[in-house]
Amino acid sequence: MTTDTYAQVPAAALTGSMRDFRVPGGADLLGRTEGFYRWQDLRRQNGLWPFSRATEDGPKTICAAQDDSGNRMQGVNFASQDYLSLASHPEIKATAIETIERCGVHSAGSPALVGNTSHSVSLERKIAEFLNMEHVVLYPTGWGAGFGVVKGLVRSADHVVMDMLSHSCLQEGANAATNNIHLFRHLDNDYCRDILAKIRAKDKDNGILVITEGLFSMDSDTPKLLELQELCREYRATLVVDVAHDLGCLGKEGRGHIGMQDMLGKIDVVMGSFSKTFASNGGFVASRSRAVKEYLRFYSAPATFSNALSPAQAATILKAFDIVDSLEGRMLRLELLANVLSLRRELTEAGLEFYGDPSAIVCVKMGSEGLARLVSRRLPGLGLVANLVEFPAVPKGAARIRMQVMADHSEQNISDAVRILKTAKTEAEQELESLGNEAQPARRTAA
Ligand SMILES: Cc1ncc(COP(=O)(O)O)c(C=O)c1O
Repeated sequence: MTTDTYAQVPAAALTGSMRDFRVPGGADLLGRTEGFYRWQDLRRQNGLWPFSRATEDGPKTICAAQDDSGNRMQGVNFASQDYLSLASHPEIKATAIETIERCGVHSAGSPALVGNTSHSVSLERKIAEFLNMEHVVLYPTGWGAGFGVVKGLVRSADHVVMDMLSHSCLQEGANAATNNIHLFRHLDNDYCRDILAKIRAKDKDNGILVITEGLFSMDSDTPKLLELQELCREYRATLVVDVAHDLGCLGKEGRGHIGMQDMLGKIDVVMGSFSKTFASNGGFVASRSRAVKEYLRFYSAPATFSNALSPAQAATILKAFDIVDSLEGRMLRLELLANVLSLRRELTEAGLEFYGDPSAIVCVKMGSEGLARLVSRRLPGLGLVANLVEFPAVPKGAARIRMQVMADHSEQNISDAVRILKTAKTEAEQELESLGNEAQPARRTAA
């Protein structure tokens, strides 16, 4: 496939971002959504809207998918989050089927009422034991757990101090809870200390929640957790660590960075999602206090006023924890790590750069949004399904193609992906060059 296959792209489809439409003006709440739709559709019409895709038979390593205009694609899949390939594991599937046969498909109630099942109660115990944390609250999604732990604990006079790259669920929880939000430079514990000292110099009476992640999902890097936890003790703050991307899949025992940094059972509050490694929607918050658990169950809206995980979801996740905690889990983590290292090695050999430390997340650097969109446009035709990530999810000019590795990827899948990415990037660079300055980011923004 050559550059000529693609029609000339209007500059407005290569510039602008979703941020431009976050606060649309005007009194017509419905009508003012149209600006975003026009810009999105311009991108769509030019093959530059790679979001809202649907797989046909689930998130396998080779998959068929459709974009939101119904165009089909088929190829190696590095866009799904199923790090240990448990979503199609035979025992997990059998567990889900058996549970549906026995319990039906729905929890039919909030965890605060009668939505719990024997499976969800066992799952709470399993996670508590796995994390050495004693008490666990389940949530219907990881997003709900992140939002819910912040909104559940923080009141308007309190403070939230968070790593500036913390996930949307944590940021939204903070925005909903208080105006006293302080962001610190990514992974910069000294910066965090300065903020804590300033807050405590003025306010001795209110709470401070410090928020970070075990493994950041766009940069694949990690904070020094002991240092951060000690800082929290010093300034009477509480630490929450979101372990969505490392729990289960990283470290010899699968305890993620908390385990690798010898912090098991030593973090104030651990929050996580099941959707990356444990083959289901859902999330949890773990602490060492029954009081915290009971409080969140009744004062954290996604745990109180939303229906519980279905019995099949709870049973699936429980089975996934059993596998993660077994010899098989250890082997799967070794396979995942071998794939990650192969991908990183082959990318380097191909002259492609990526962010961060070895983990299931390998984000390949593209730079400008325009170039990244042109690269992403070529991927389905060449046989690669991978996600485009651009501002505001990452800084402007630091767009990337995010590859999420699974234990079941083969060497061939990895080589194919790298070859395709290399071809797409080389062709897209030529195309961008031929489009001239108009398509360069600084020159124009979308209306
Ligand atoms: C760091 C982090 N926290 C929380 C979530 C939310 O989890 P879920 O998608 O399972 O609701 C995600 C998922 O994108 C995430 O990346």
